[in-house]
Amino acid sequence: MLGAAVVGGFLAIDLGALLYVNNSIGPARLTPQEFLDAFEEVFGRQLGFRRNHAKGVVVEGYFDSNGNGRELSKAAVFRPGRTPVIGRFSLSGGNPAVVDSPTIARGLGLAFGFPGGQQWRTAMMNLYVFLDNSPQGFYARMFAAKVVPATGEPDPAAMSRFLAKHPETARAMAINQAHPPTPGFADSTYRSLVAFYFVNESGTRTPVRWSLVPLQRAWPPSKGLNGLFSPLIRQMRAGPLRWRLMLTVGAPSDPVDDATLPWPVDRRVVDAGQLTLTSIDTDRPGNARDINFDPLVLPEGIEPSEDPLLSTRSAVYGASYRRRTGEPALLPTLDVNEII
Ligand code: HEM
Repeated sequence: MLGAAVVGGFLAIDLGALLYVNNSIGPARLTPQEFLDAFEEVFGRQLGFRRNHAKGVVVEGYFDSNGNGRELSKAAVFRPGRTPVIGRFSLSGGNPAVVDSPTIARGLGLAFGFPGGQQWRTAMMNLYVFLDNSPQGFYARMFAAKVVPATGEPDPAAMSRFLAKHPETARAMAINQAHPPTPGFADSTYRSLVAFYFVNESGTRTPVRWSLVPLQRAWPPSKGLNGLFSPLIRQMRAGPLRWRLMLTVGAPSDPVDDATLPWPVDRRVVDAGQLTLTSIDTDRPGNARDINFDPLVLPEGIEPSEDPLLSTRSAVYGASYRRRTGEPALLPTLDVNEII
């Protein structure tokens, strides 16, 4: 079970979003509310749940830093030593009762930090590159991928029209197809996808993308509703799961404002330490329901890049947080105690 003190330290987490929520986003003037209405139109109105990545479980553990990250960032989390972590594994999409499938993108949200201290929050995915390089692209893709009730599938013509206008997404889809997903949550590499700047004690600013690289294989998927979450829950009951935190150092020529573009594979990578996840629990009020993995909650030593997705995400996650926590909390669709 998750310690109440640790969870409590991550509550009241809507700060970053307040800075952005009143602003409209980008030239097409999309507001956070319009994004949330779009999620509700595409996935139905799922009261009390995240409007995206609605299905998930909460995890707890720690990060052991080896000190190597200090070369790039003065953030306390990179000093040698241990930092507590709370996180959430999820499937993308706004349906909290979705049938698990390896083709749905997997997410891992993490909040590093001591209660009351500076925190680093990140929401990562098991993709190789992100599918959109603008908030407008993300918004349009949601509708292009909307399932048509008559067929139970998205309308292929709508997706073709979208891809004709968004070649960056067509390219990103091809790159991801060349890096197919692993079978489970436990063996996934989770990536920031978006670039950030790391700032060290001497003030040097370096573009960085990070990834969590798994140290274990995943227990095989099962059939049915929770075919990916069930093996994860059972595997975590059998012992801790571990990932290495790898910091990829960007060159001045690498894009920092376009998450659909991969960086060259020969970039230097700094192994900053090990993430260990020790416990798993149902996503409910009092734990993960009350956490907003806002990617702009950053400690001193990590700064946002020019990527336009970042301020949009901060605003939309905050608005989603406020909407869902103001609604009656329904029973979780995935109860870890029901997985035996
Ligand atoms: C414009 C682009 C994006 C929009 C509009 C968007 C929207 C959202 C929303 C509304 C949520 C639910 C927030 C909450 O209620 O707490 C969410 C969660 C999440 N997003 Fe995004 N997202 C975007 C881009 C991304 C990117 C680039 C990544 C990965 C690099 C990502 C990874 C995640 C993850 C892992 C979660 C679940 C976090 C959790 O468990 O609370 N998203 N997103």
